Amino acid sequence: MKIAVITGASSGLGAEFLNTVINEYPNLDEYWIIARRKDRLEKLAQKYKTKRIVPVTADLSDMESYKGIAELLKQAHPVIKVLINNAGYAKSGAFSQMESSDILNMISVNIKGMTMIQKICLPYMRAGSFTVITCSVSSFVPVPNQAIYSASKKYVYYWGKALREELIGKDINILLLCPGNMNTEMNPKGQDGKAGGLPFLDMKKITLKALKKAARGSAVYTPGAFYKLYRVTGKLAPSSLMVKIVKRYFN
Ligand SMILES: NC(=O)c1ccc[n+]([C@@H]2O[C@H](COP(=O)([O-])OP(=O)(O)OC[C@H]3O[C@@H](n4cnc5c(N)ncnc54)[C@H](OP(=O)(O)O)[C@@H]3O)[C@@H](O)[C@H]2O)c1
Repeated sequence: MKIAVITGASSGLGAEFLNTVINEYPNLDEYWIIARRKDRLEKLAQKYKTKRIVPVTADLSDMESYKGIAELLKQAHPVIKVLINNAGYAKSGAFSQMESSDILNMISVNIKGMTMIQKICLPYMRAGSFTVITCSVSSFVPVPNQAIYSASKKYVYYWGKALREELIGKDINILLLCPGNMNTEMNPKGQDGKAGGLPFLDMKKITLKALKKAARGSAVYTPGAFYKLYRVTGKLAPSSLMVKIVKRYFN
């Protein structure tokens, strides 16, 4: 049995990924969708009636949840052709003002969650399988007032790149998708269509391109000319300078 697994599928980018994965890989036997909101997952299962959508309700900040997902995988013993390791959480604000629960939740979901989902899915991936890990442009430069979020995405970037290298001999690819603004529950588009003056991305387009790039073996995909330039600048300029520019112009 060949399947796709998509975390954070109940809204935003994950829900868009579900649609694109179904279109691009219509012959998979099942599409497993993971998030906390059961009603949302069940609605999605209803929407794609002709496909076998398997809702898996799990709180990825809870380390116990991995045991449950691992057990489901053990029972089904599938081949995971596509893994969209996407669930994430962001809360902006000065570190000193943030609730401890938000700090811990970001670390749990964005770091531990993504790592453990990959760990439990990997034994079921074979040559030709791939993962799209949702990183962020916030990983390129330290972002004041998003200190925990940008640091968590930096972890994801380094971990994903290193893991990709470990898996190359097995023909299992990892693509790091590094988007900028997207209009989702996490980052709703304002009246002017911009956040901090930065452009929003078309999720339909980027999910399609991400799947194609991941299947071709690419390592990183940063959608949009502005964000590509930001990535290059972030690489060339010292982070001590970039952190000040980000604080002044984009905070
Ligand atoms: N939107 C942006 O501008 C932007 C930019 C760069 C990167 N990203 C990244 O894109 C990814 C998707 O975010 P989004 O923008 O699509 O936001 P979103 O609409 O808020 O979606 C977040 C998804 O993650 C799930 N999730 C959150 N906490 C969870 C938990 N504890 N356990 C299980 N699932 C959990 C949510 O489902 P439930 O609430 O149902 O659990 C939801 O499906 C994230 O990794 C985010 O960091 C977003």
